[in-house]
Amino acid sequence: MFTQLNKKLTLSSSFKTAPNIGLIKYWGKWNEREIIPLNTNIGVTLNPNDIFTTTTLTLNPESNKNQLLINGKDFPISNRIERLFGIFREQILQSKQFASNKYKNSPSDKSLGQLIPDIEKYGIRVESNNSFPTGSGLASSSSGLSALALCLQDILKTDIDVRYLSRIGSGSACRCLYGNFVLFPGVQLQNLDKSDQQTINLESKRCLPYEIESSRWLKEKVSIVILTDTHQGQKDVLSKDGMKLTWETSKLIQGRVREYVEQHIKELQLALEKQDFNKVMETIIRDSNQFHATCMDTYPPLLYLNDFSRQIIKMVHIYNKNAKNIVGYTFDAGAHAVLLIHNDELVSFKKFLSEAQNLFTNSKYIIPSQEFWTSIGNGPINLN
Ligand code: DP6
Repeated sequence: MFTQLNKKLTLSSSFKTAPNIGLIKYWGKWNEREIIPLNTNIGVTLNPNDIFTTTTLTLNPESNKNQLLINGKDFPISNRIERLFGIFREQILQSKQFASNKYKNSPSDKSLGQLIPDIEKYGIRVESNNSFPTGSGLASSSSGLSALALCLQDILKTDIDVRYLSRIGSGSACRCLYGNFVLFPGVQLQNLDKSDQQTINLESKRCLPYEIESSRWLKEKVSIVILTDTHQGQKDVLSKDGMKLTWETSKLIQGRVREYVEQHIKELQLALEKQDFNKVMETIIRDSNQFHATCMDTYPPLLYLNDFSRQIIKMVHIYNKNAKNIVGYTFDAGAHAVLLIHNDELVSFKKFLSEAQNLFTNSKYIIPSQEFWTSIGNGPINLN
């Protein structure tokens, strides 16, 4: 969007995105720089009308400094965001040289670099606001970085792949670019031990996310609730550090990457095709548990689950014993639970949840302080 600021032309773009929650978990990178996952993974995008990040990127003629604001506070710009800004600036400079190329963002069809000749002096200001806790294992970086990639691409209007821009911001971020269930391919097993540049380039082009169309039937059937543990603040070990440590120290992760996770991917895809609700939920539960088993097998262990999480797990399994449509759960790198509930079970599950305190007579049940109710989303919303 073009506007005037003190007689100078400025540009901005805004997107609203929802987090994508890993269901078959991504944990481990084959290539750190290109963020190519060791294992194929699947996540579900939440509904951006309920739970979201709104991001606005502005090219600021008044300052040559880059700035990142999250929920109104200044944040340090990470190396990954610096890299994204670097690619952005490179593209702008190219637009000066190749006047006739694809930049069609300006009113006069001029390239960005020609329309604003001193654009490289403009600072990049990114303002991101989350409607949910930031940095606590609720995938806030996934929605924030996908929104940033969308803004950058919207301003550039080049054919640079937004899935790539999003992925090099954060692996799970690229899954937020689509609605429903989204598959993000990991490195091919035969390339696991290779590291030549040609293979890296090929895998980088291949490992891009896409929507699993056969998951669309679930949208009308499922409600999602996130139960947050108020006692948990920022997570201890960031995902990017945790997954590295697991790969370096856990034996279980080897089996997971080389065999078990592929089985989960196949089982989930088959269950989606057959529209087998209970099998979908069971696979999600099993993968979350296996992921946390590898976290426990990490040395020193990664203790993302706490008493709160374990009580939720117990509670769901008690409910599932008698349920026609079982409730699914998953936990990312944090204590908060994400539950997937068949809409036919909603009334009885809500009642069960409100009475759940009575289930744990010997241990104190920590009532979730915040519940975020949502559903499966359709993907990003363009606010321009
Ligand atoms: C446990 O996407 O945060 O949520 O690629 O290093 O940014 P980076 O990691 P990130 O890891 C997400 C891990 C997870 C599982 C998942 O979302 O699949």
